[in-house]
Amino acid sequence: MSPDLSAGIYLVATVLFILGLKGLASPKTALRGNTYAMVGMVIAIVATFYHKDVSSYSWIVAGLVIGAIIGSVAAVRIQMTDMPQLVAILHSFVGLSAVLVAIGTYEMHARMDALGTVFLIEVSLGSAIGAITFTGSVVAFGKLQGLLKSNPLIFKGQHLLNLALIIIIGLLCYKCVISPSVGYLILLTILAFALGVLIVVPVGGADMPVIVSMLNSYSGWAAAATGFTLHNNLLITTGALVGSSGAILSYIMCKAMNRSFFSVILGGFGGETEVASGESNEGKSVSSAGAADAGFMMENATKIIIVPGYGMAVAQAQQAVKELFDTLTEMQVEVKFAIHPVAGRMPGHMNVLLAEADIPYDVVEELEEINGEFATTDIALVIGANDILNPAAKTDKSSPLYGMPILDAYRAKQVFICKRSMSSGYAGVDNDLFYYDNCSLIFGDAKVTVEALVEAIRES
Ligand code: TAP
Repeated sequence: MSPDLSAGIYLVATVLFILGLKGLASPKTALRGNTYAMVGMVIAIVATFYHKDVSSYSWIVAGLVIGAIIGSVAAVRIQMTDMPQLVAILHSFVGLSAVLVAIGTYEMHARMDALGTVFLIEVSLGSAIGAITFTGSVVAFGKLQGLLKSNPLIFKGQHLLNLALIIIIGLLCYKCVISPSVGYLILLTILAFALGVLIVVPVGGADMPVIVSMLNSYSGWAAAATGFTLHNNLLITTGALVGSSGAILSYIMCKAMNRSFFSVILGGFGGETEVASGESNEGKSVSSAGAADAGFMMENATKIIIVPGYGMAVAQAQQAVKELFDTLTEMQVEVKFAIHPVAGRMPGHMNVLLAEADIPYDVVEELEEINGEFATTDIALVIGANDILNPAAKTDKSSPLYGMPILDAYRAKQVFICKRSMSSGYAGVDNDLFYYDNCSLIFGDAKVTVEALVEAIRES
């Protein structure tokens, strides 16, 4: 294929990726966005097959077959709730391939005696970013999968150590450029592996989403660096798209959680802390309710706000929630859904589940849109959510959730919370709301509870 044709096809693929990203901005257009991105990827792969530099297909076909088998098995087996782990481990692959490409092409250019300055900058930066992405993503995977403790790991001198490592890696990159040696490249890569671990270990609990999207951004920059090394324009533009969209997502999530980006990166947020100024809930009691009582109150309500959370995803209760929505709407009860930006375990998790159950988009509202409405709502029905409505985020400075905006469910006249036990949520802290006078817990699996609510409402 001629270079011009190849460049033209890559341009079409890039435009499709941009349209894909644009589509993913709203649940209404997400399917279309996904289709654009998939078509773009097929075009990109086929065009790469015919690229002038491709001399043999055996390695490409072997890689494609193995990758397609692993990818298909993972896609079929993976639970929706385990998506963040999958995303984290996929980022680690991008990071590791950037390292391998950098070292491999360095060796090739060294043999051809073609170690130009720009090339050396590209490989040293590509290898450093790739190595940070690789180990950082592996640690994030371990934390999300529960293989490692999700609490932040903080030790004295951590920031100084990170700073020293960044400076040494920078100096090694410089050395690699002015007096090329594979030894410098390998040493800086090893130090970058260590830095990746050190960047992620101090982040934990409720701040993990930010670090996952940040690693997403790093994986994009690592891919872009690989694109420069391989002189592949499509990899450069795609990497830049992933890098910048990941950075924007990290910023949006930090804003949603009222965290400064640097405080998350520097770590220490999101874990369990000793209760200091905040009041302990020890000795206080909670009130529990049955589906029949809650159902009776719901059918007599004028307005209900449903707050879905991670537990709805675990219980796969979305279809039952749709039935509840239909039943109440038929009875002229106004029902809305309140979505917190970090509800569940990935951005947009709740929107995806509600869309899957055909719940109309116009009754699904984001935190800023709906928070003012809780005060005039008869019932807030919480389905498997916890951290995102913990009032300690507003009142208890010692809480790891402090400062994160919450859904003000506690302002409703009555709050019902469906959960199985008194266990805490992802951040590992007790929820003050459970002990409020206007709050009752309905214990049980969310799907079973919501089905029981529907039955109770229909029977009465
Ligand atoms: P969580 O605070 O994690 O609470 C989930 C609740 O669901 C728990 O109280 C749990 O209590 C209940 N639950 C679990 N399985 C259930 C089932 N089968 N039936 C009924 N209840 C069930 O969830 P959230 O309120 O959605 O908050 C999300 C948290 O995850 C935040 O801390 C957020 O920072 C973090 N996080 C978010 C993301 C993204 S991007 N969204 C990524 C990683 C982490 P029981 O065990 O007692 O049932």
